[in-house]
Amino acid sequence: MKNKKILVTGGAGFIGGNFVQHMVKKYTEYDIYNLDLLTYAGDLTKHNDFEEKKNYHFIKADIANRKAIMELFEKEKFDFVVHFAAESHVDRSITNPEIFVVTNVLGTQVLLDAAREHGITKFVHVSTDEVYGELDFNPETFFTEQTPLQPNSPYSASKASSDMLVSAYYETYNLPINITRCSNNYGPYHFPEKLIPLTISRVFNDQKVPVYGDGKNIRDWLHVKDHCTAIDLVLHEGLDGEVYNVGGHNERTNLEVVKTIINTLGKSEDLIEFVEDRLGHDKRYAIDPTKLEKLGWKPTYNFETGIAQTIQWYLDNKQWWEQILSGEYQKYFKEQYSSEF
Ligand code: NAD
Ligand code: DAU
Repeated sequence: MKNKKILVTGGAGFIGGNFVQHMVKKYTEYDIYNLDLLTYAGDLTKHNDFEEKKNYHFIKADIANRKAIMELFEKEKFDFVVHFAAESHVDRSITNPEIFVVTNVLGTQVLLDAAREHGITKFVHVSTDEVYGELDFNPETFFTEQTPLQPNSPYSASKASSDMLVSAYYETYNLPINITRCSNNYGPYHFPEKLIPLTISRVFNDQKVPVYGDGKNIRDWLHVKDHCTAIDLVLHEGLDGEVYNVGGHNERTNLEVVKTIINTLGKSEDLIEFVEDRLGHDKRYAIDPTKLEKLGWKPTYNFETGIAQTIQWYLDNKQWWEQILSGEYQKYFKEQYSSEF
């Protein structure tokens, strides 16, 4: 019997990269095709061990390049698509929204057309809780799959637009899709522009940590490996057309997160520097994952075990993040944090 072919877009990034590793190791009967444009956020060194693996393949391509994507689908005849590729950083979407529309909206639509034309048996669209907008600080309120979409940043607006296109392809063309909406991820290979790896790398180097506003905004943190098992489950067991929220009830204020990292690394809380707030900064995210749990998913990490493992990973893999910090990133950091640092 022929191996199933799975196209993973964005498999050189943080979550897609962890997912590729999960799938290549777990399913030797699948051929995993990692398609990625290798933007600033993409890095293939994380897959160095896989180069010899027979069931791993890499394709450099832009999901918004219709001709290239159509030709690829024609040639490879994929069975499944798991779509991670995106511009993913909210701050970058505030300074440069256009590329978010091109990649996240147009790129998704190109993939949907290719999937429809070539009879894909499942298209999993990896989305985010940010499409629901923000919650207030009442700890009894959560995002469910019924919560109306109300995105507040250019990033989340582009993700909500892509979600609606994915749903429309199910309703209009019967394309077998699922949408997953996950809360904030953390773990190995998280790009150091995001709060947790940014804090670890800066605290490690005794540098100030920029905390937006009063630091009381709340995020619901999920270890990336638990996100990967959720997507694996949805890919194999998800009911066509359904949305699944992914989260593990690990709500923390940003200040709690930063202090946990500082204390674990044995440094001083004087490193915290409150800076100007993010524009349109969502107050709180919190996921109700009941529907996914009913499908059979259970996270393996809580925030305490996950953050300890993650900090240790960053200590053991300094070379990976130091090489990122020494490049283009320095220009980005100066522009983003300007005079304060
Ligand atoms: P990331 O920024 O680390 O990785 C994105 C990857 O997509 C990179 O490898 C990049 O090179 C690639 N890419 C960008 N534009 C491309 C294009 N035009 N064509 C092909 N490849 C392109 O992102 P991430 O944090 O791993 O997020 C992955 C997905 O998960 C995104 O869709 C994001 O919206 C979603 N998500 C992220 C989180 C989170 O906490 N990071 C939570 C929920 C959902
Ligand atoms: O909720 C899921 C989303 O989580 C994903 O869809 C996004 O792709 C992902 O980037 C993430 O978005 P956030 O904006 O929540 O993550 P970020 O790490 O950028 O910020 C987390 C919180 O920390 C947020 O409240 C802003 C704050 N923050 C962030 C940075 C980079 C700071 O206080 N200082 C900072 O320097």
